[in-house]
Amino acid sequence: MINLTKFSSFFIANWKLNGDFKFIDSFLKQLKITKNNKKCIVIAPNSIYLNYIISRKKNFFVSSQNTSIFENGAYTGEISSTSLNDLGVDFCIIGHSERRQYFNEDDETIKIKAKSLINNNIAPVICIGETIEERKNGKTEEKIENQIRKCIPDNSNNGNTILAYEPLWAIGSGLTPSLDEIDKTHENIRNISVKFNNYAVLYGGSLNVKNYQEIVDLPNVNGGLIGGASLKINDFNQIIA
Ligand code: PGA
Repeated sequence: MINLTKFSSFFIANWKLNGDFKFIDSFLKQLKITKNNKKCIVIAPNSIYLNYIISRKKNFFVSSQNTSIFENGAYTGEISSTSLNDLGVDFCIIGHSERRQYFNEDDETIKIKAKSLINNNIAPVICIGETIEERKNGKTEEKIENQIRKCIPDNSNNGNTILAYEPLWAIGSGLTPSLDEIDKTHENIRNISVKFNNYAVLYGGSLNVKNYQEIVDLPNVNGGLIGGASLKINDFNQIIA
């Protein structure tokens, strides 16, 4: 397990169900990572390409986009944390709103996955965030606190787990909360209990070349979980520079 406390920021490229060998070859050829031991750059391809990316790993880390709640057994089609660890995967995104929405992933499931990942020396990147209705009804704080209390297992700490605040309505929409709102939400997350005081909290949702600087400079933001902009190598290079 990488000790997360040695980094001050994290930039995770969430490619979702995009990319192929040609895309990966071209991306890695152009990827510019300036040597900075405090900045952690992570690429999360779809599972089929994990091994290929790991074999070409250079100054960056590799993340899965999902893991099974099971570690082995008769579960056809599943990929376990034990096999991700065997492969050399460093991180795993869990609880992404697309998985909650389309694949019925709930807080209970996310907690089981997080626990299994940590037991297998993989750092979970646990996503939380409110819907537009929850935001309009002033329920953002309550929703996020609820998710965090339900999703974080006992074996989690700031050295092995990352949190990612992704408002659902901001993902892929070009919209983001105001800078103040982002910073306040991140601060609230850390203040849920002393346990979370020192967790890295990333922002995700329409982070792009135009807005990333102001967002990642916020005092309570420790980097970004980047979807669309991480598929454009020039944009990604600029964001991680
Ligand atoms: P986006 O996606 O940057 O395209 O909004 C972020 C995410 O879903 O992690």
